[in-house]
Amino acid sequence: MRLFFLLFLLFFQFLQASVPEKFSNSRYCIGCHVQKGLDWKTTWHSRSNSKKNSLYRKTIKYISDMTYKSVASVDVSCGECHSPKMGVKKIDFSYDLASAFGVETDESKKVKKEMHNKTADDGISCIICHNIDKIKHSKELNMRGYEAVVFGPSDVMSGPFEDSHRTTFHKMQKRDYFNQNVDRLCLVCHYGNKRKGIYNYATGIEYKASKSSKKCVDCHMGKLHKSIVAPSIVGQTKALTRETRRHLFEGARNSDILKRSLKVSVTKSGSTLNLEIQNMTPHKVPTGFSAREIEILVIYRKGSKVVDKKKRVINTLFVDKNSQETLSYIADKMVYDKRLKPNEIRRYTFSSASGADSVKIKINYRLIKSSLIPILQIKDKIFIKEYPVYEKDISLL
Ligand code: HEC
Ligand code: HEC
Ligand code: HEC
Ligand code: HEC
Ligand code: HEC
Repeated sequence: MRLFFLLFLLFFQFLQASVPEKFSNSRYCIGCHVQKGLDWKTTWHSRSNSKKNSLYRKTIKYISDMTYKSVASVDVSCGECHSPKMGVKKIDFSYDLASAFGVETDESKKVKKEMHNKTADDGISCIICHNIDKIKHSKELNMRGYEAVVFGPSDVMSGPFEDSHRTTFHKMQKRDYFNQNVDRLCLVCHYGNKRKGIYNYATGIEYKASKSSKKCVDCHMGKLHKSIVAPSIVGQTKALTRETRRHLFEGARNSDILKRSLKVSVTKSGSTLNLEIQNMTPHKVPTGFSAREIEILVIYRKGSKVVDKKKRVINTLFVDKNSQETLSYIADKMVYDKRLKPNEIRRYTFSSASGADSVKIKINYRLIKSSLIPILQIKDKIFIKEYPVYEKDISLL
């Protein structure tokens, strides 16, 4: 038993650096960069961790239940991208064993505290992106997030500009991954990730294959526009007007980005409906988290009475050893991938329902596919509601 605890002590790896309070949390940045803060707080970047995001928390719990690993060790391994400044980088099997027996020690308490320090629970914050001094590599699938970068001294903020010496709060440095090579910054976490030949994410791989010249930020951070990065402060040089971008990191959940990027057309030939959907983005749709879903509903009516409903889904299906549906992270195989490829034009045909005189076509986006909601026991409305993308009524008379 004593040996067991010795191992237990040896196998935690803590992040050693001690960070001054004012660089530990985005709250301090937002005082001067108000609009950036307001934008960022509406995004999932600000809720990328198990404290603030119930879908993420429940996914971790589910993986822990299915793999017999402790919740903490799953949380830490996912933190590579979701919580790159988490105070714990690795948890050994001995912790899992101790937690399975309900043993709590000073060390395990410290692990819990360090896992959820102020910086970790702040998500993909200002201090994550803007404290990156160097991007080491952009393509190794098994070394993403913090493993792909070198963070700078905590008082240096990297960005698109040379140091203007307008603030003593922090130093500034210009980096090309905030200008012409900005995609590299996004790909630190969004490039892809694979386990036993199964992709959990592949946005960057999809994007590279599409050979698009559009940058991630052109769509997800809006157009460059002139604004003041930080106001002038009494006794300081005057504020400068700069080329800047919003920090909304738009997705189908919080913007009309998908409405703008799916070209939908419906035509009638005889009693048959032809639906054509074109993906105008340089990655798959839906991309990212492999359990996203788009649903096409075709509702036939006679007068106001519904006479028939037809449904198509655009999603993926992963199963475990027993052919039960599961999440990509612990899947045995991918059964299908129906997501729209970059620039793909997908055609669906629907034969008419007898007696119908009108039809409604609806396209909705979901953050989590409906079949996984009961498996993960998701209750938070923001994750289970439908986000309307397209709707059209057509007369069949
Ligand atoms: C006391 C006010 C103040 C605070 C607090 C502050 N900043 Fe700044 N920041 C500025 C000023 C002033 C500039 C320069 C603006 C200019 O040159 O147009 C700036 C510039 C920047 C830039 C551009 C860097 C570049 O090289 O392009 C980034 C990024 C940045 N700040 C991030 C942060 C982050 C992250 C924090 C929190 C850790 C923070 N700021 C806190 C005032 C502040
Ligand atoms: C340090 C890792 C990291 C970096 C760098 C990063 N992201 Fe993310 N991003 C994430 C994670 C993790 C999530 C999911 C958070 C969650 O939902 O739990 C996410 C979510 C998103 C979303 C969905 C946001 C929402 O509110 O629904 C978009 C869009 C996005 N990122 C775009 C970008 C773009 C564009 C860049 C480059 C400027 C970028 N990301 C850089 C890790 C990162
Ligand atoms: C996911 C990465 C990411 C996060 C998180 C992030 N930024 Fe940025 N930020 C960028 C990128 C990329 C640019 C450069 C955009 C461009 O000019 O094309 C930028 C630019 C800036 C700039 C300078 C130019 C401008 O557009 O105004 C400031 C200041 C800034 N960010 C502050 C912040 C603050 C404050 C936060 C936290 C509330 C924050 N950023 C969070 C990626 C990020
Ligand atoms: C032409 C515009 C466009 C470009 C360029 C683009 N995207 Fe997207 N992106 C979209 C649209 C539209 C969606 C919503 C549909 C979806 O979720 O797939 C989206 C969705 C996403 C999501 C999922 C967000 C969520 O809520 O799940 C992520 C992550 C993302 N993009 C990252 C990136 C990255 C990283 C790049 C660059 C390598 C990039 N995108 C380039 C248009 C674009
Ligand atoms: C390679 C980096 C990386 C790793 C490692 C990673 N993720 Fe993610 N995760 C992302 C990115 C990027 C997104 C955003 C994609 C999107 O919005 O569709 C995301 C999104 C998610 C989401 C959707 C959250 C939301 O708010 O809708 C869940 C759930 C999730 N990840 C769970 C996990 C779990 C569990 C693990 C560990 C087993 C993990 N992730 C490991 C990069 C990563």
